[in-house]
Amino acid sequence: MKAFTKILMIMFAMIMCSCSDSDNEAMAQNTLPQKMYITIDGVSQSVTLYDNAATRELVNKLQDGSVTVTLNSSGGFEIWGALGFSLPTSNEQITAQPGDVILYNGSNICIMYGSNSWSYTRLGHIDGLSESELRTFLKAGESNISVTLSLRPSYPQPSSKTLLVYFSYTNHCHEIAQSLASQIDADMLRIYPADKNQQYEANGYAIGMQLLEAINANPNSADSYPDIDPVAVPLDEYDTFIIVTPLWWSKMAAILQTYLFHHGAEMAGKNVGLIVSSHSSGISGVVADAERLIPNAEWMGEALWINNANHSNRAALIENWLTDINYSAISTIIEDINTDSHAGPSGIFNLSGQRLTKAPESGIYIENGIKKIATKR
Ligand SMILES: Cc1cc2nc3c(=O)[nH]c(=O)nc-3n(C[C@H](O)[C@H](O)[C@H](O)COP(=O)(O)O)c2cc1C
Repeated sequence: MKAFTKILMIMFAMIMCSCSDSDNEAMAQNTLPQKMYITIDGVSQSVTLYDNAATRELVNKLQDGSVTVTLNSSGGFEIWGALGFSLPTSNEQITAQPGDVILYNGSNICIMYGSNSWSYTRLGHIDGLSESELRTFLKAGESNISVTLSLRPSYPQPSSKTLLVYFSYTNHCHEIAQSLASQIDADMLRIYPADKNQQYEANGYAIGMQLLEAINANPNSADSYPDIDPVAVPLDEYDTFIIVTPLWWSKMAAILQTYLFHHGAEMAGKNVGLIVSSHSSGISGVVADAERLIPNAEWMGEALWINNANHSNRAALIENWLTDINYSAISTIIEDINTDSHAGPSGIFNLSGQRLTKAPESGIYIENGIKKIATKR
């Protein structure tokens, strides 16, 4: 029995020796079952919280919602700044270690990537990151770092949805949009003119021409564009747009121009594709209109032109076009992200939600739902 106790004591001593001072102190103290999460640039890391008056009050506060603070690097060992509220202190002279989360002077938070001795109140310790990983995660050396404290991790929410926006007067574009929608996963938004009785083809297509002439004369004025039915589709939910439009007098049909005049700017930086339907005229004027109305779009290859002669072959034309613009790669998505747990999709992804073939050599990525930081050695 004595020998068994001795072995246990030796094992205990070995375990204690393999830990840092800070780990030993952490082990010696009680911790809260509730984890806190620190999120920087969309990456969340869990924090084991000590059980003291400060952390209990902090958890209470975070139950009402996350808190975002702006921290600055300081002293070569920490990022720190004002919490915006005070917590009860139980200061003691300690040597804070990399990963420690500290309350300083009752109303400042310090997150350590190095060590420092001071009179602090411990809040917790970031789980499982090496010193170099901590430096990357905490943006060591930088200023104005936006840091969010919360009781739940925040996974990047890749928007991967496609919105198909179209107008159609004689239903060619409607049929094109339907064919497209049968080939890809997209929401559809049809734009309607406010005036439902207008005959754009009357008098040798004169009405359509008048609408376009008004736009051409003053393209920067909202008054130049014909009224459309109100649209309440929030575009920030989408990262890819496909515009399907008829050609009128070698320009984009005026009705769709109205919509894009008001909402094209919201598509800046997003993937945008264009499909144009005409009787026979070439589509360069419509492409120019699209580029004017959707400035700074990430254009997905060349526009697809479907004329009346090959309209019946639209399904195959669309299929080839989707291949040409590499649509399936553009729309690769992370699905089924569960923000309430650590569960995540299998595979390796960047923070935009795009699947990677292998882990990057440096930077932050997500593997099987776990955030990882790669650092070049
Ligand atoms: C006002 C107006 C002007 C048009 N101008 C042209 C033109 O200049 N060249 C052309 O090839 N087709 C022209 N078209 C024909 C349409 O581009 C073509 O029929 C298209 O497929 C219509 O699409 P939709 O059925 O979705 O409205 C015009 C049609 C209208 C209504």
